[in-house]
Amino acid sequence: MDIFDALRQDHRQLEKLFQQALADKQKAESFDLFRRLFAAHTDAEQRFFYLEVEAAGLKKIILVYVEEHNLADLLLDELMDMNGQEENWIAKLTLLTDLIRMHITKEEKELFPLVERTLSSDKKKEILNNYLMVQ
Ligand SMILES: [Fe+2]
Repeated sequence: MDIFDALRQDHRQLEKLFQQALADKQKAESFDLFRRLFAAHTDAEQRFFYLEVEAAGLKKIILVYVEEHNLADLLLDELMDMNGQEENWIAKLTLLTDLIRMHITKEEKELFPLVERTLSSDKKKEILNNYLMVQ
């Protein structure tokens, strides 16, 4: 397994959880599980993956991904303040999941191949080890 496999594995898990949260149509345990995994994943991703990608000269590219995380956090904060019975609960949750889907697709189709070509294999191993330590 390399760092990209580890990140992709997290992404699949996140997709499963937000699909469940959407299917539940109210604020349920699935939303909480999703929120916690998303927070842990983006924290580890930013600390161990984005930082190294920035250091490799790709800061301009990473800024957009960080902003997408920030926007998702804002929507999550709003959802946290809701009780799930509001008529816009599903609308807001759908917007959040659309954003995360788009973000994940961009990471996997554009960012990962670029980073794969840019970083040395030692660096990729180091990132994977650090990333797995906090999982
Ligand atoms: Fe991300």
